[in-house]
Amino acid sequence: MSINLIATTTFGLEAVVKRECQALGFQNIKTYDGKVEFTGTEADIVKANLWLRCAGRVWIKMGTFRAVTFTELFDQTKALPWADWIPEDGKFTVVGKSVKSTLFSVSDCQAIVKKAVVEKLKQTYHTDWFDETGASYTIQVGILKDVVTLAIDTSGSGLHMRGYRANALDAPLKETLASAMIQLSFWRKDRILLDPFCGSGTIPIEAAMLARNIAPGIHRKFASEEWERIGSDLWKQARKEAYQAIDYTAMPQIYGSDIDPAAIALAKENAEKAGVDDCITFSVKPCQEVTLPGKYGVLITNPPYGERLGELKEVENMYRALGGIMKTDNTWSTYLITSMEYFETLFGRKADRKRKLFNGRIKTDYYQFEGPRPPKTPKD
Ligand SMILES: C[S@@+](CC[C@H](N)C(=O)[O-])C[C@H]1O[C@@H](n2cnc3c(N)ncnc32)[C@H](O)[C@@H]1O
Repeated sequence: MSINLIATTTFGLEAVVKRECQALGFQNIKTYDGKVEFTGTEADIVKANLWLRCAGRVWIKMGTFRAVTFTELFDQTKALPWADWIPEDGKFTVVGKSVKSTLFSVSDCQAIVKKAVVEKLKQTYHTDWFDETGASYTIQVGILKDVVTLAIDTSGSGLHMRGYRANALDAPLKETLASAMIQLSFWRKDRILLDPFCGSGTIPIEAAMLARNIAPGIHRKFASEEWERIGSDLWKQARKEAYQAIDYTAMPQIYGSDIDPAAIALAKENAEKAGVDDCITFSVKPCQEVTLPGKYGVLITNPPYGERLGELKEVENMYRALGGIMKTDNTWSTYLITSMEYFETLFGRKADRKRKLFNGRIKTDYYQFEGPRPPKTPKD
């Protein structure tokens, strides 16, 4: 039986996640604001969690309907086949959100959904009492303009939690966004990549994981690993395949630098945990002193935005300096995310393309300056 699935995304990344879903072979892929829907099997739930690099979470879509009264919400929730997923000992919680809807009290909606699911499970399992001692299931009731979507979270913590990042420093980039920035660029594993504001190393590490085909979820656990219906064999098999798929012979040339020695120490630790420390060269360096290592490289970076008090002038100077450095070699491409609206003036060049993205709550633009493609190397 095919299962309706939802991969949530940050605003602006829908097309990237759609492409990832296509590459993973999922069926009936449809894109909406903030999510990509598709159909799949239990094995696809495992695959989506292990392999999607840019999605927020993977959900099972249980149903969608219109509701403007609590009775409508209760009855239509109760009509759904909850026991398909939740076993008799399942422990479940309900989370919720409501936007522009008649049913605006999220806590009331959560309580009603919980009650309706319990009533349905009572009928299915012929019991009045649930211990809730088994695996966990998080149900989300999402209401947008009176349309309710009920879904079960298969991921647990968000998919950006790869498991390689130790204590975060200031303003780290989400791993999902870092990976999307890379996938939106023309960087390929045979080209040099440089991040001169690498902080805890997120962009270099995500690039190295892509180059080596390391599944982003390989180092972490997922909520649905405990679920009866999926079963541990599917997870074991998929993890085994993911380990076999790693290409340790890939030796991309990746460079990360930052002015902060503590950030670089952390970046090194993180890269080691992710299994990619041998293909990233990290160094402590102010961006003004960066030189471009080689030709036809790709600079991908998330610099400071100048939003903090007293930081603006310094950041403006950094952007100017970076523009100067990039002018020294026109074979390089630059991809940079920032909320500063006059970035192009400081950098000294108009972007070939700009894409609106959200870095957390900050509205940003992803500026793309494309250099020439590297000449083709003759085949042996
Ligand atoms: C927004 S953070 C980058 C976060 C990084 N993408 C991550 O995931 O951890 C900006 C980084 O720029 C660094 N930085 C600030 N001024 C710098 C300068 N003049 N040269 C190089 N790095 C600088 C900071 O130390 C900080 O790590």
